[in-house]
Amino acid sequence: MDFPLITSCSCRSTVLRILLFLSLHLPVFALTGAIPQQEARRISLNSGWRFQRSTSTPDNLSYSKLKQWILPSANNFIVDSTKHARRPADQPDNVTISQPSFDDSSWEKLNLPHDWAVKGPFYTASNAVIGGGMGRLPIQGVGWYRRNFSANTADKAKSVYLDIDGAMSYAMVWLNGNLVGGWPYGYASFRLDLTPYLSVGDNTLAIRLDNTVDSSRFYPGAGIYRNVWLTKVSTTHVGQTGTWISCKQVSNQSATLDLVVQVENAANGGVRAEVDVTTDVHIFDSGTGKAGEKVAQFPSAAVALEAGKRQSVNSSVTVQKPRLWGPRPAQEPNLYIAITRLRIGGQVIDTFETRFGIRSLQYGNDGLRINGQRVYLQGVNQHHDLGSLGAAFSIEAAERQLSMLQDMGCNAVRTSHNPPAPELLDLADQMGVLILNEIFDTWKSQKVRNDFHLIFNDWYEADLRAFLRRDRNHPSVVIWSYGNEVAEQGGGKSGADTAQRLEDIVREEDPTRQTTVGMNSASADSAFSSVVDLIGLNYQGEGRTGSTGSFPSFRSKFPNKMIFSTESASAISTRGTYLFPVTNGSSSAVKDGQGGDSKAMYVSAYELYAVDWGASADKVFVSQDRASYVAGEFVWTGWDYLGEPTPYNSARSSYFGIIDLAGFPKDRFYLYQSRWNPTVRTAHILPHWNWPDRVGQVTPVHVFSSGDEAELFLNGVSQGRQKKDQSTYRFRWDKVTYQPGELQVTTYKAGAIWANATVRTTGQATQLKLSTYRERTVIRADGSDLSFISVAVTDDKGNVVPQASGTITFSIQGPGTIVATDNGDPTDMAPFPSKDRKAFAGLALAIVRANADTTGTITVKATSTGLQAAELILEIA
Ligand SMILES: *[C@@H]1O[C@H](CO)[C@@H](O)[C@H](O)[C@H]1NC(C)=O
Ligand SMILES: *[C@@H]1O[C@H](CO)[C@@H](O)[C@H](O)[C@H]1NC(C)=O
Ligand SMILES: *[C@@H]1O[C@H](CO)[C@@H](O)[C@H](O)[C@H]1NC(C)=O
Ligand SMILES: *[C@@H]1O[C@H](CO)[C@@H](O)[C@H](O)[C@H]1NC(C)=O
Ligand SMILES: *[C@@H]1O[C@H](CO)[C@@H](O)[C@H](O)[C@H]1NC(C)=O
Ligand SMILES: *[C@@H]1O[C@H](CO)[C@@H](O)[C@H](O)[C@H]1NC(C)=O
Ligand SMILES: *[C@@H]1O[C@H](CO)[C@@H](O)[C@H](O)[C@H]1NC(C)=O
Repeated sequence: MDFPLITSCSCRSTVLRILLFLSLHLPVFALTGAIPQQEARRISLNSGWRFQRSTSTPDNLSYSKLKQWILPSANNFIVDSTKHARRPADQPDNVTISQPSFDDSSWEKLNLPHDWAVKGPFYTASNAVIGGGMGRLPIQGVGWYRRNFSANTADKAKSVYLDIDGAMSYAMVWLNGNLVGGWPYGYASFRLDLTPYLSVGDNTLAIRLDNTVDSSRFYPGAGIYRNVWLTKVSTTHVGQTGTWISCKQVSNQSATLDLVVQVENAANGGVRAEVDVTTDVHIFDSGTGKAGEKVAQFPSAAVALEAGKRQSVNSSVTVQKPRLWGPRPAQEPNLYIAITRLRIGGQVIDTFETRFGIRSLQYGNDGLRINGQRVYLQGVNQHHDLGSLGAAFSIEAAERQLSMLQDMGCNAVRTSHNPPAPELLDLADQMGVLILNEIFDTWKSQKVRNDFHLIFNDWYEADLRAFLRRDRNHPSVVIWSYGNEVAEQGGGKSGADTAQRLEDIVREEDPTRQTTVGMNSASADSAFSSVVDLIGLNYQGEGRTGSTGSFPSFRSKFPNKMIFSTESASAISTRGTYLFPVTNGSSSAVKDGQGGDSKAMYVSAYELYAVDWGASADKVFVSQDRASYVAGEFVWTGWDYLGEPTPYNSARSSYFGIIDLAGFPKDRFYLYQSRWNPTVRTAHILPHWNWPDRVGQVTPVHVFSSGDEAELFLNGVSQGRQKKDQSTYRFRWDKVTYQPGELQVTTYKAGAIWANATVRTTGQATQLKLSTYRERTVIRADGSDLSFISVAVTDDKGNVVPQASGTITFSIQGPGTIVATDNGDPTDMAPFPSKDRKAFAGLALAIVRANADTTGTITVKATSTGLQAAELILEIA
């Protein structure tokens, strides 16, 4: 077997993305037999695990008992070596579960990424051990994962590392019964050196994770929920996050690249290494996933390294006529790839690839400039979970999230409030999405009793440096955030000192980008807000205290700093649910009788309602437009997410999303699309028009459109023609009297017809209709690719019946699995793997995976009592 695609792949994996674009089939390589000759630098260890979880602590272990062996894992990321933790000379007490001889045959077999909590069941009690905030899913307890792999004598002469992209949480890793190390923060990517404990022949990895209750304000997930790799390299090699490429003097004519390569000699036998370091720069073709034409070459360097030492090699090169990286749609996300080779005596001993982009960044007091062009931040916040898939990372699910956001005109994502999967940044690089990369939700002061504050002092430096070094080559990352709504904002000097310490670390690791913290309470006069480079405000802009809120006070205190909303809106709604009466204002705090129904736990989708510290989208637009120096906003949130079901804590998932948890756009999607993607001919009518109980009653009709004028007709009778003024972002006819039939809107732009839309009173539900995301009916049998299948309940003309709520049963024939179903209803407590899912506002979703190494077709069927069933065929490629 050869593995051309993963040979010498850097930590910023190009592999998954290549698969996505080319639909290539990459075998999942189970490392059980002999190791191939031409082997990869990095091998997936995702398959073939055994797993067991317990809600008690049967092993009597804890992080605090084993901390002395775990802390040294951070040493590479702590600059002051006098602060390095020293590993005790002995192993801790024998842990039976970690021993190769331990019998794990009764444990569950599974592949990673894995989230042990997402299958449920949901806790429904009001005093549940995991309540609404954390998503009512059983994240708590101790989980053990075990896996065998074999190594040969050639491997024994190498350095062998375990790379874990994310494990929730308090990971501790044993190899052959020896505690290797670990990493507590569940969102961090980390590397452990297996070399000292590696055996020729069979090896047994055992990984222990531990999640406490009250450890997060939102759903954290549970388990090894990201990719895991085995990296095997020559003892002299490019280090873990071993390259750093930054650019300066960027223009269309040329750009200067600065490169730092960290070379490491991990030979424990004391051999000095004389190494030549060369790096070539090639165009990276996102379409094929391959290196294209070579465009530059860094000057080569020679370095002599004693055993156990690492050293940085710096060089610079100028690229002529660079193809710049920029966000879509205004610019193109062109990428390059740097291929670094280490040679000893002329022979290549390590090859390391780094994907990067060339672009300039300027943070002006009137906004962000990329390559000299102002880019207004049309951003959203995104938590890391992927809805019914939980935290278990899937590149297909992440791509679906980002591309739907991009369709809406979104150009930026804030990774609230923790480091994302590395592949999310690969996607953002490739798709041209800007990233505000955020690391912490808490510092020293707790938000909930078991959150990161417990380990902040021991781990903040290592976590922050590891995060920055992992992600700083990504051109999509344009802002670092080292905190969100931290209590330290109001803490006077000590809070500002903590901020300054974190700020200094960012400055040391990356002088090219600026920083922020999401500030919901710091005022312009606080010591805290002077520390951050950029003024990122949570809800302070949109006017609890006036139309532009705190923007003017920050503006006058910091006339030269960029100001923007790190969180805006917190508008809430339930897809397809309309409640009456409709508020006559443009924004209203939700309560019963005013957009809310606390009994059903639904919020009206007239899209005028928000939590009491928030505002509707329309109201945010007003304040952003009045403060024209503001650089843009990050809406809370793009997609719904698990947990934080404000305002109804008995539910399971959020109401904030512009897109619901299953991936169906709420009405608000078209409001943002009208403003953010104005070249799309959007015209969207709400509500639906099936109101048998409202005949003769006032039933407001609102229209979202990128046009500037609109005329609404009910059964052919004009309800009036309207023009948008400067501070209205929707058309509204609030006095329409309901009669069944047809609503039709014609919108105009600059006097010419722009876009039309129609909504009809439907007939009875008669049938189901299936469709796939992006009409993609081909699925790869790589054990990870997913197909997202929507089902609509329609009348016999194919109109979606908006109140249909009957149970739909999904079934599958052929070599595949229904991984999860959902409908976007935040109150639906049917476990996600259930094959039965109620339609919600006429729609539901099934997510299907093909079994690994299969061929043929998969037939997915949906049935529902009294309705004509539907079938869909997926081809396995
Ligand atoms: C854990 O501790 C309990 C109480 O001390 C003891 O009975 C039990 O055997 C221990 N279990 C293990 C796996 O060491
Ligand atoms: C650890 O325990 C295992 C299984 O109980 C046993 O086989 C092994 O010899 C023990 N190792 C040590 C160092 O005590
Ligand atoms: C690892 O190998 C041992 C010994 O052959 C076996 O008992 C155990 O089930 C294997 N574990 C896994 C996860 O394959
Ligand atoms: C190499 O560059 C890094 C990052 O800019 C810097 O910290 C370091 O001092 C440089 N080393 C040398 C030898 O110039
Ligand atoms: C490069 O050229 C484009 C198109 O002419 C222009 O919009 C852009 O501002 C230029 N970029 C830089 C960095 O000069
Ligand atoms: C909105 O309704 C409230 C209460 O019904 C009323 O007091 C107010 O005048 C109305 N405002 C407008 C602009 O119609
Ligand atoms: C939109 O509706 C108007 C009538 O109001 C009609 O004249 C026009 O052709 C329609 N345009 C499209 C694209 O359907």
